[in-house]
Amino acid sequence: MLSETTPEDDGRSPPPARGRRPADGATLRADLRAALPDASAAVVVTVAVFVFLYARMESGDSATVAVMPFMDDPGTYWMYLLSQAFGWSGLLWAWGTVMLGLLLSGPRPTRLPVSRQVLERWHRTTSLTAIALMFAHALMFAAELVRYEDQLAWAERLWVGFADAFVPGWYDSGTGRIAIPIGQGALYLAVPLGLLFYVRHRIGANTWRRLHRFVIVVYVLSVWHTLLYGTNVWYGEWPRTVLWLLQLPVAVLLLLRLLRPARRAERLHTPRRREGVSLPGWLVRAAGRAAAGAAVLGLLIVVASGHDGGRERPAEPPSTSPHAPEPE
Ligand code: HEM
Repeated sequence: MLSETTPEDDGRSPPPARGRRPADGATLRADLRAALPDASAAVVVTVAVFVFLYARMESGDSATVAVMPFMDDPGTYWMYLLSQAFGWSGLLWAWGTVMLGLLLSGPRPTRLPVSRQVLERWHRTTSLTAIALMFAHALMFAAELVRYEDQLAWAERLWVGFADAFVPGWYDSGTGRIAIPIGQGALYLAVPLGLLFYVRHRIGANTWRRLHRFVIVVYVLSVWHTLLYGTNVWYGEWPRTVLWLLQLPVAVLLLLRLLRPARRAERLHTPRRREGVSLPGWLVRAAGRAAAGAAVLGLLIVVASGHDGGRERPAEPPSTSPHAPEPE
């Protein structure tokens, strides 16, 4: 989720030679240190979401409990709530870092409140934080599974928690059979596509740039996973509407970035004036622009029509809850 353009490879000057350290001095260690304020803000946001979800569960408003009535006990299921909270802060940080990346690699805004170097640093630090939050989300889910499986021996409990959360295809219940591998795909792609930036002087800036542009897939998978599996956006209520609405600026910036890329070499001319781009390559680029345009249109339709895939919340909770109060 790191910037596609850096001072040395934004199309104005040549990328650093393979094997030579880039001149901007952006190292993983320096960026991890610089990410500390950012990560602290993420922790504050996570705690705030956790408190909100906990309070909703206590008050009886929780959509999670409406979907899974046995969870009507925040004191017991606090690790699940914390996993959800990390999921939301992870998604918010992924949103922010993708927006920053698209701002940097698309048409240059005439006026920016901060310098381009500062925006690039924010893009790098927010993407490191986003990866950590995604990992914490999956880890807390694994921890909840370990707590839940208390009838098993410790080794087996640990294995079940780890495998269900981290081994693609292992989780075998309901929507999770599809939604969990989608989330895992996002996490496992985010790590190399984000961190390869720090070895770009070894793999070559062009290779890094070509790979890094697929980071948008990480974001799409994350949103898909959430819409498919998030119980707090299960019903067609305001949280689901907000989630869809937040995707509109991303799709618009993506479309602009593809139509007017900062790097001149990526511009799409007519098929006749392809300037060294093969016809299949040109077709792929044109298809990318058409897909981004379709995404903007699709999002507008979803938001305007309210057909956002949300279900109707049942008036009464199902009577199968194992935590239903015992009759006196
Ligand atoms: C190993 C990878 C992952 C696993 C095992 C996993 C697991 C889960 C599970 C079990 C849920 C359902 C929670 C609920 O009842 O709502 C969920 C929801 C969610 N996940 Fe993931 N996830 C993974 C990756 C991701 C990634 C990469 C993101 C992006 C930041 C993400 C963001 C979310 C969000 C925002 C929710 C909605 C939570 C809610 O409804 O409150 N997940 N995930």
